[in-house]
Amino acid sequence: MVKQILAGETLPLRSAVLRNNLPLEECVFETDSQGFHLGAFVDDKLVSIATFFPEDYSELGHGGYRLRGMATHPNYHGKGYGTQLIQFAINHLRNEGISYLWCNARSTALGFYKKLNFMVVSDEFIVPGIGPHFNMSIQIQ
Ligand SMILES: CC(C)(COP(=O)(O)OP(=O)(O)OC[C@H]1O[C@@H](n2cnc3c(N)ncnc32)[C@H](O)[C@@H]1OP(=O)(O)O)[C@@H](O)C(=O)NCCC(=O)NCCS
Repeated sequence: MVKQILAGETLPLRSAVLRNNLPLEECVFETDSQGFHLGAFVDDKLVSIATFFPEDYSELGHGGYRLRGMATHPNYHGKGYGTQLIQFAINHLRNEGISYLWCNARSTALGFYKKLNFMVVSDEFIVPGIGPHFNMSIQIQ
């Protein structure tokens, strides 16, 4: 089941999956009070998270939303939970009149986003401390 969650609920999975177990307070995004956060639950266990907030990607113009903090618990990879979150968000954003969704995609996760029809919109670049990324986007209107 996919539902909206509080920013604070994302922090344990952000830390464990994306930030090498950094203290939770260091896993807060400056934008966490904007937009919305989604969680996928198996029974009562939160197994996948993603955060969506308004931010344009300069080359794509106005009406953009950005995805950050996409993470699925390793025991639940490949079971469709990440896909469920993105599809839920795209349906919601389409109803809200948002034009496109974009993200800094880790190069290791490129295949996941490509399966969801995201397109690469930048050259590869390094995010310090994390590694190689591409910017990717999907048109939703
Ligand atoms: C990337 C990630 C969020 C995907 O979540 P998930 O819940 O496992 O994704 P899904 O089960 O919905 O996968 C959908 C499809 O993408 C594929 N896929 C998932 N992760 C992939 C990856 N890293 N590379 C290539 N393909 C991938 C799945 O095999 C599946 O393919 P299928 O439809 O043929 O079965 C998850 O692997 C993860 O948390 N990785 C570590 C953190 C990370 O890289 N996050 C993204 C930061 S930009």
